[in-house]
Amino acid sequence: MANKPLYKSIPDPNLERKRTVSFSFNYDEVIVSDRLKKFAKGKTYFIHTYGCQANYRDEENMAGLLELAGYNKASEINNADLIILNTCAVRENAEDKVFGQIGNLKIIKKQRPETIIALCGCMVQQKHIIDFVIDKFKHVDLIFGTHNISSLLSLLDEVIAKHVRLVDVKSLPEDIKENLPSKRISNFKAFVNISYGCDKFCTYCIVPYTRGKERSRKMEDILEECRALKDANYQEVTLLGQNVNAYGKDFNDGTSFAHLLDEVAKLGIPRVRFLTSHPWDFSSEMIDVIAKHDNIMKYIHLPVQSGSDEVLKAMNRRYTSSSYKALVDLIRKKIPDVAISTDIIVGFPNETYEQFLETIDMVNYVKYDSAFTFIYSPRKNTPAALIKDNVTAKEKSERFKELVKALEVSVGKSSEDMIGKTFTVLVEGPSEKDPSILSGYTEKYKLVHFKGDDSLIGKIVKVKIKESHVYSLLGELVND
Ligand code: SAH
Ligand code: SF4
Ligand code: F3S
Repeated sequence: MANKPLYKSIPDPNLERKRTVSFSFNYDEVIVSDRLKKFAKGKTYFIHTYGCQANYRDEENMAGLLELAGYNKASEINNADLIILNTCAVRENAEDKVFGQIGNLKIIKKQRPETIIALCGCMVQQKHIIDFVIDKFKHVDLIFGTHNISSLLSLLDEVIAKHVRLVDVKSLPEDIKENLPSKRISNFKAFVNISYGCDKFCTYCIVPYTRGKERSRKMEDILEECRALKDANYQEVTLLGQNVNAYGKDFNDGTSFAHLLDEVAKLGIPRVRFLTSHPWDFSSEMIDVIAKHDNIMKYIHLPVQSGSDEVLKAMNRRYTSSSYKALVDLIRKKIPDVAISTDIIVGFPNETYEQFLETIDMVNYVKYDSAFTFIYSPRKNTPAALIKDNVTAKEKSERFKELVKALEVSVGKSSEDMIGKTFTVLVEGPSEKDPSILSGYTEKYKLVHFKGDDSLIGKIVKVKIKESHVYSLLGELVND
């Protein structure tokens, strides 16, 4: 491809902040040009996805589109004719991984110049990243954003026809597209988007800019997708949104997540999950629905971020440590056997050691069953990135270690309590570390390894727990 870039659109954070635009729903068919069909024949694609489940679902739509055009999935990145890096911008280390991989692709492009290399996802929703890539990585042919994935085929067609490096990253979301083809990564567990974007604007977070205004899908479209998954014998469905609790609020007609969850559970899919719940608008009606249905997993991911009221305020989290604790108490009262996990950020700008200790207090209070921990990473154009920070990198890393140690107590205990008991496990596949062993998750999302035959993959089996390794467990298959 020639080196001169053609800019169709580039992102602007001032526009991305806007929440005034309204959306409609689009059910049009996807059109594939004859030129692209001819070009794609016999060619392969490889999508490397980073980041969260929203990106994985986007990968499935991109794969669906590419296969509609005639591409086949490549067995590995090195022999693909089209390589797409589907990127994440949530922390600096997520971006560093992508830069490393773009660098590696230079060799492929040198050996096979006809390979098309594309970048998409949250990272390229930032103008400074686009400028850097265009300048430093001349082997990247196409950059498109999170809002125009549905245009992938027409963008590819343009790259092929015009021999240009093409940039088309929109600042604002387009209409919700319900027509997109999809090639699911798994044939037994699925993610179903219920809403896109986020309006919470936590001060550290890039997601509201990269994913845009919160928009809900229509309930009947979500239920239809879930029904099809049930008919195809899927064992687990996870309802996805940056904040699922806010589902339906944009319709202003009383539609709520509690109602949606109730309707999805009634379809009878063996396992129903949802991700992520913001502690701020977690209604008691939602708790009742979770308690009512056996097939809604009694596992709630409830990111706390910090245990200090001052830090929570600076993060714009909209709850206090005591209101969070009250919510946890209410959930535990109504669902006594519930498992709770969380996300925690240490080293937010100017966090004092005392404030950090309040986070440790929170960890000791809630006794989390599992947790994801992060060191604060400044994100360009977010409000927190403008705060002058007096906490050193060394202090942050020491606090991080202290936090991990505190969490190990409750996570370790919740895992040890499982020893000797039998749990149902949805078998995902061979273990990453030892391919002779199978891995899967319990209802409460504990990772279990055990010996078993590959024919069990995709099935729900019973496993008796023998050993705890804190964040994972070792067990034995139980034959009824
Ligand atoms: N919508 C979800 C997921 C957001 S990203 C939610 O609100 O929970 C997942 C986690 O990444 C967040 O919960 C937060 O703990 C972490 N995170 C987000 N931005 C970050 C940043 N700038 N630095 C460090 N961690 C961050
Ligand atoms: Fe980011 Fe906060 Fe939205 Fe989660 S709720 S995506 S942390 S802004
Ligand atoms: Fe990353 Fe975007 Fe998800 S920033 S965490 S891929 S929404």
